[in-house]
Amino acid sequence: MPDRVARCGFTSSLAGRIKISGSKNAALPVLVATLLTDEDCLIENVPALEDIFSIFHLLKVLGKKVRFSGNTAKITGKLKSGDLPERVVRKLRASVLVIGPVLARIGYGSFSVPGGCAIGERPIDLHLEGFRKMKAEFEIAGGRMNFKKRKLHSTTIKLRFPSVGATENILMAAAGTPGVTKIINAAKEPEITALCDFLSQMGAKIKIEGNTLLVNGKDRLSGCRFGVIPDRIEAGTFLIAVSAVGGEVELENAEDRHLRNVVKKLALSGAKIVKCGNLIKIKSPRIPKSVSVETAPYPGFPTDLQPLWAVYMLKAEKAAEIKEKVFPTRFMYIDELKRLGARMRLRGNVLKVGKSSLSGAHLLACDLRAAAAMVVAGLMARGETTVGNLFHLFRGYENFFEKLKSLGANVSIK
Ligand code: UD1
Repeated sequence: MPDRVARCGFTSSLAGRIKISGSKNAALPVLVATLLTDEDCLIENVPALEDIFSIFHLLKVLGKKVRFSGNTAKITGKLKSGDLPERVVRKLRASVLVIGPVLARIGYGSFSVPGGCAIGERPIDLHLEGFRKMKAEFEIAGGRMNFKKRKLHSTTIKLRFPSVGATENILMAAAGTPGVTKIINAAKEPEITALCDFLSQMGAKIKIEGNTLLVNGKDRLSGCRFGVIPDRIEAGTFLIAVSAVGGEVELENAEDRHLRNVVKKLALSGAKIVKCGNLIKIKSPRIPKSVSVETAPYPGFPTDLQPLWAVYMLKAEKAAEIKEKVFPTRFMYIDELKRLGARMRLRGNVLKVGKSSLSGAHLLACDLRAAAAMVVAGLMARGETTVGNLFHLFRGYENFFEKLKSLGANVSIK
């Protein structure tokens, strides 16, 4: 498919109401976890976007059948293979999540080692250490991880860092392994809680005690019906976009309890936010106050919203600092934003952003969230901004441009 380009023009304010989609990052592991059963699963509120289509493809490669219509995915059939080719892994990093369920179900597999990625180095050592503790045996050769046929054992695993992916992978392996597996220093993101809810509905018994997950697994889990939680990162993207561009917008189907840190920072910057039933209403400040942020695992400020915050602070009255503590090199977007006139200076993992007067230029998106940040910057800049490499954005936002346009944004795609 030829790549699309976004054309963004200066937009003085956004107004109206949009509905937040199901969470991409919650849907991905839930869809992968259907590998743990041969029974039918019905997953609702699945966003229609490229990463989800890649997961459907991956499930089919492994033997499952997928029917997707109206944001509901019906997954049926049996896991038949534990062989994941490189072309599938390259398309979607989250494909490494199949290792846990595949090892729990068939005990062996051969998976391509995932490569680097635009937001920096993304090792999977924590995933592999967990599987090793569960008595998995593997060797890495020719760019593949080859797991020997072995039964996984329940055990205690302490993660050195609360990695989201490692927690999900080990959690799925543990849910399909009889006995109690304890995961200490587990990630606590809402997407992890959602995965625990799904696995519990499938028949695993899971207790969440602070940072520890106690997983009482079974080798036979059942099918079930499950609704994906709203996308907190999409909601956060629109909250920051409205604050940055200006205006007054209502978000339907958004969970403010998953966004406390972001809402707190937005309020400090002068935005007015109220929760009203299942709506979050936001009114932008006239001139935002400068608010520095530091990314951290949940419930801290999400790394995924860091590029958007950097763009927002280009409008603030004084300079702000953004410290990236989750993916320390996630700043590839800076040089592109500088083409618009953004005043940004990076020292190590700290980005200093100063009040800037932006004017249109051609930008190339370098990753999913940076792509959204560049479009928002394009709406703030005088003249026309075009954003290329838009495939990054379509990986993770459902109807992004339709939603922006319905709010009055001066944007189109060609
Ligand atoms: C997930 C999200 C991503 C989000 C990130 C952090 C999905 C599909 N993606 O990514 O949008 O930005 O959480 O909230 O849900 N690490 C290791 N070794 C490992 C695993 C991770 O060193 O084995 C490091 C990473 O390099 C990174 C940090 O841990 O510096 C966080 O990574 P992790 O929490 O695993 O993020 P992902 O699951 O890849």
